[in-house]
Amino acid sequence: MAESLELEFDRLTPDGMGSAPMPEAAGRVALAWGVLPGERARVLPIRRQKGALLCRLVEVLRESPDRVAPREDHYLSCSPWQVMRYDAQIEAKRRVLEELFPSMPLERFAAAETVWGYRNKMEFSFTEREGRLQLAFHERGHSLRKLPLPEGCQLASAAMNAAALEVVAWLEKRGISSSTLKSLIVRGSRASGQVIIGLYVMDENFPAAELGLERSAGWAVYYSDPLSPASVETRLLGRRGADHLVERVAGLDLAWPLEGFFQNHVEVFSLAVEEIRRHVPETGRIVELYSGVGTIGLLLRDKAEEILAVESNEAAAAWAERNRREARAENYHPRAARAELCAEEFLLPSDVVVVDPPRAGLHPRLVEALVRARPRRIIYLSCNPANQTRDAAMLGATYRPLALVGFDFYPQTPHVESLLVLERMAQKD
Ligand SMILES: C[S@@+](CC[C@H](N)C(=O)[O-])C[C@H]1O[C@@H](n2cnc3c(N)ncnc32)[C@H](O)[C@@H]1O
Repeated sequence: MAESLELEFDRLTPDGMGSAPMPEAAGRVALAWGVLPGERARVLPIRRQKGALLCRLVEVLRESPDRVAPREDHYLSCSPWQVMRYDAQIEAKRRVLEELFPSMPLERFAAAETVWGYRNKMEFSFTEREGRLQLAFHERGHSLRKLPLPEGCQLASAAMNAAALEVVAWLEKRGISSSTLKSLIVRGSRASGQVIIGLYVMDENFPAAELGLERSAGWAVYYSDPLSPASVETRLLGRRGADHLVERVAGLDLAWPLEGFFQNHVEVFSLAVEEIRRHVPETGRIVELYSGVGTIGLLLRDKAEEILAVESNEAAAAWAERNRREARAENYHPRAARAELCAEEFLLPSDVVVVDPPRAGLHPRLVEALVRARPRRIIYLSCNPANQTRDAAMLGATYRPLALVGFDFYPQTPHVESLLVLERMAQKD
């Protein structure tokens, strides 16, 4: 059994853990979630990770003035920065961007007004406590240990928590134990107040047809292969009511399905759209890559004669087509394809390109296609600024940065979202 250590934490890592130099091992650091810079804390070593000693917080011995009491016992699982004052969270996120982009002034870091109950997607697990079924999260760093959530989670809306707890009550009444349950996905719309639910079970004989819920507008029950830890559909066991939600973003109604991607913090996302619009010149053609259900491109529909949208997920592209029809955006053309495989065919030097990739960032083949086609402006929204800097560096010989803005899409967590605007430089002869 490892002995606990008392350490002075002096900084946060870019992914949000407290970091302390190890006095007896020059150059080595100990890392722990839930500890802030300026704090002295007792921590318990768990394991080594990439040269650092990963630890669990036992006790804070001297508190930072930025510390606040967390709202939830399970905060380390869902949002480890619950212990930090909100203005200090924004300052820390601003510093992350400044360090990642040292040669670029950060115009601003847009804070959120709503810092609780903002998420429109939650994924819960299940456990039992004192013989009762409970919603749960996996304990951070221990995928097999679970923490019960008797009231849900404060990152979700009250309607989403109520709907999730109704599912638990129904399962309990039926005597269904956590061993046959995998997860519960809850989606909520701020605009309509509606909630829809996906229940992933590991029992093919689950009584899906009998599930009756009043707090959800619709639900689906899936058998999900027990060998996979993910909430994946192996077989649909039953579905009732609504299969999608509609959210209003900047005055436009957008539909998205239970399983599909939709921006979590609609209020802050609207600020990002405003910023994107500010940097999109009136133009002939916008190319939107990684376009999901059309959220960004449809909000730019008045800015171009034609918008070509590329999304790899066929279902999302089909919802984008439906959103296009509802918005009567005749100039919006969604297509289901992988951006890196088709960009070369259609990118033009006159284009404005908007990209919003997943955490991995831009595919190297797409970066090469952009360098060859030289569209005049690239507007890059990123949920992983570290990979965004890598992509910007690869585009660096062709593009110069025009603007960098940060957004707090995920208050109480270390997650940083950034918008980088790049402009093509004049070609040297
Ligand atoms: C961060 S989401 C952004 C979606 C959309 N822009 C929005 O605001 O809702 C990234 C999207 O990229 C899609 N995607 C992932 N890999 C892709 C690829 N190689 N080509 C095109 N789209 C891809 C995902 O399915 C997902 O919808």
